[in-house]
Amino acid sequence: MNNESLFRPFQLKSLNIKNRIVMAPMTRSFSPDGVPTANVAAYYRKRAEGEVGLILSEGTVIDRISSSNDASVPHFHGEQALAGWKNVIDGVHQAGGEMGPQLWHMGIMDNHHSGWLPSEPFEGPSGLNRPGFSNGRTMTESDIADTIIAFGKAAADAKRLGFDCLELHGAHDYLIDQFFWEETNKRTDVYGGKTLPERSKFAIEVIKEVRRQVGEDFAIIIRLSQWKPADYSYKLAKTPQEMEAWLNPMADAGVDIFHCSQRRFWEPEFDGSDLNFAGWAKKLTGKATITVGSVGLTGEFLAAFAGESSQPSSLDELIRRMDRGDFDLVAVGRPLLSDPNWVRKIREKDTSDLKGFTKEALAQLVLE
Ligand SMILES: Cc1cc2nc3c(=O)[nH]c(=O)nc-3n(C[C@H](O)[C@H](O)[C@H](O)COP(=O)(O)O)c2cc1C
Repeated sequence: MNNESLFRPFQLKSLNIKNRIVMAPMTRSFSPDGVPTANVAAYYRKRAEGEVGLILSEGTVIDRISSSNDASVPHFHGEQALAGWKNVIDGVHQAGGEMGPQLWHMGIMDNHHSGWLPSEPFEGPSGLNRPGFSNGRTMTESDIADTIIAFGKAAADAKRLGFDCLELHGAHDYLIDQFFWEETNKRTDVYGGKTLPERSKFAIEVIKEVRRQVGEDFAIIIRLSQWKPADYSYKLAKTPQEMEAWLNPMADAGVDIFHCSQRRFWEPEFDGSDLNFAGWAKKLTGKATITVGSVGLTGEFLAAFAGESSQPSSLDELIRRMDRGDFDLVAVGRPLLSDPNWVRKIREKDTSDLKGFTKEALAQLVLE
C-alpha cells in the first residue's frame, strides 16, 4: 500500500497540518460540570503525540442554558471551562499537533439516561427532534438571535485561546441540522420554508457571525450529514443540483472546509457516479473537504454503539479516492479511540498490531 498521499502537509489559512489525518470529533462526557480536566488534556495530547495532524474536539457546547443534555459534556464558555480548554490546546501544540473545538448546540434532545436536565427546556426550530417526538420549545426570533451571538462568542474564544481552526457541528440532527431538516423545521417565519436553501438561513447567519468574530484568516469548518440518526437513508439534498444550492451559500458565508459525515466513506452519494459526499462537496463548491466513516475498519460506528465489533481493514480504496483528488483530509474516529498511535503505525506501515473496535473498547478506551 502506497500511503504517501496521506502524509503530505496541508495548509489553509490558519491551518498548517503535517499530514491529512484528522481526529473525528467524539463525545466523551468526562468534563464534570462542563469543565475539561487534566485527564481530557492528556487524552488529546496523546493523540497529537501519536502524529494526528488535526484534532477536532468532542462536541463542546455554546453558552445557551439548554444547549446540552449531559452535565459532563464540556462547555465552551465560562472562565473555568475555557481555562481547561487552554490547557488542552497548549498540550496539543507542545506535542506538535493542531486542533479546533467542535462548537455544538444539541437542540431538541432525548432526556439523558443520567436523569440530569438543563434548567430550561430544550430549544429548537419547532420543538421536534424527529417525526412524532417533541421534547422542548420552539425558539423565538430573539432566541435565534441570541444563539447566533453565542456561536460567535465561542468562535472568538477559540481564536483567543490559540486554537488553529474551529468546527461548527451542523450534522446528525443537532440544532443547526434541525433547522435544515424538513421533519424538524416546521417554521413559517424566515427561518423555515419548503426548500433546503430557505431552511439554511440559520446556518448561514451563524457562519457569517462566526466569520465576523474570527476574521478572514481563521479556518472555519462545518460538519454536515445527509443521514439522520432516525433515518440513515435520508438525504437533505436529493440531487447534485440540490446539494449545490445548499452548500454554495454556506461557502459564500465563510465556510472554508466541508466535513462530510458518512457512516461508510465508500458509499456513493448519488446514482451514476462513485463520488461520495466529500467528493461531491469539493466538486460543487471548490472548497476543501474532509471525508469520514469507517476508515480502516470493517463496520460503521452506529452499529458499534449497538455492540457490533469491527476488524481493521485496508486503506486502498480510501487512497484511490484521495489520489483522484476527491477530498483533502480524512477523519478517523474509533481507530484513534482504540489506539492513540494509529497514525504513526499507518505511516510506518506497521500493521501487525492494528486493533479492531469492540463495544468493550468503547466503554473502556474513551477513558484514556
Ligand atoms: C464515541 C463516539 C462519540 C462521537 N461523538 C461525536 C460528536 O461529538 N460530534 C460529532 O460530530 N460526531 C461524533 N461521533 C461521530 C464521529 O465523529 C465519526 O463521524 C464516526 O465515529 C465515524 O467515524 P469512524 O467510523 O472512523 O469511527 C462520535 C462517534 C463515536 C464513536
